[in-house]
Amino acid sequence: MSRFALNGAVAMICALLLTAVSARADEFTKDDLKKWDTAFQSVMKEGEKLFHSGTLGKNSVSCDMCHPHASNTHPETYPKFQKQIGKVVGLRDMINWCIQNPQEGTPLLADDPRMFALEAYIHWERRGVKLEPGKH
Ligand code: HEC
Repeated sequence: MSRFALNGAVAMICALLLTAVSARADEFTKDDLKKWDTAFQSVMKEGEKLFHSGTLGKNSVSCDMCHPHASNTHPETYPKFQKQIGKVVGLRDMINWCIQNPQEGTPLLADDPRMFALEAYIHWERRGVKLEPGKH
C-alpha cells in the first residue's frame, strides 16, 4: 500500500471510530441526566455559599459585598485582556485577583474544588447570556 493510501485508510478508521464514540455518547438516560444535574447543582450551591461567606480571604470581606448575585463578574467575556494582570486571562485569574487584592487572601489552585464551585456559581448566575470572549 502506498504511503498516501495508508494515511487515508488510517484517517478513515479514525473518523469511523470517532463517529461510533460520539453516537454512543449521545445516549443519556433520564437517570443519568438527573444524577449529573444533582452533581452540578451541589457544586454550584457550594460556590454560592463560598461567594457569600467571607472565608476566601483574610479580612472577612465576601465577594457579594461588591458583586451582589455575581453582578459585574462578566464570565461570558472570558478569556479576555485584563489590565490589572496585563495579558489575556481566564475567569479564574480574576477570581484569584479578587481573592488576593480586595480579600487579601491566597490564590486558589486551578484544580481546587472551591475554584470549580465559584466558577459554577458565577456562570449559573449568568446562564443564557450570549458568549462574547474578549469583550469589554
Ligand atoms: C471590595 C470589592 C470587591 C470584592 C470583595 C471582590 N471583588 Fe471582584 N472585582 C472588584 C473590582 C474593583 C474588579 C475590577 C473591575 C474591572 O476593572 O474589571 C473586580 C473584578 C472581578 C471579576 C472580573 C469582572 C469583569 O468584568 O471582567 C470577577 C470575575 C470577580 N471580580 C470575581 C470576584 C470574586 C469571585 C470575589 C470573591 C472571591 C470578588 N470578585 C470579590 C471588586 C471586588
